[in-house]
Amino acid sequence: MGEEKVKSKFGVYIPSDLIQELDAVMKGLGIENRSKLFQEALRLFIVENKWSIVKNVTGSITILYNHEVGGVDEALTDAQHTFLDVIISTMHVHLDRERCMLIIAIKGSSERIKELLGKLHSIRGVMLIRHVLVEAQ
Ligand code: NI
Repeated sequence: MGEEKVKSKFGVYIPSDLIQELDAVMKGLGIENRSKLFQEALRLFIVENKWSIVKNVTGSITILYNHEVGGVDEALTDAQHTFLDVIISTMHVHLDRERCMLIIAIKGSSERIKELLGKLHSIRGVMLIRHVLVEAQ
């Protein structure tokens, strides 16, 4: 007997503008089945966030910020000195006259990294933070 996959069906409310954008992207990618697309989106969401339920993680945090905002460089440097236990290395790229990018290599406790992300999000001048984290071996 082959193993049958149990499927769940449930309704979700999605704003019409989001559906319009979604349909446009689906059309661009040549995807016709909304269910398949939602399954893929959920898998991606899980892969991206699984690190939050494991003990130790490794990967990177990328921060885009406006260095002309007063105190932002100092606040980012202070945060890195506070989280030396999970930071392996940092690369600073001067993107243009106003914007800078930090790429921080990370390894350590996921709880500690959640604290670091919280700290980074609270800094004025930070425009965007993206992390790529996986379970550490
Ligand atoms: Ni810079």
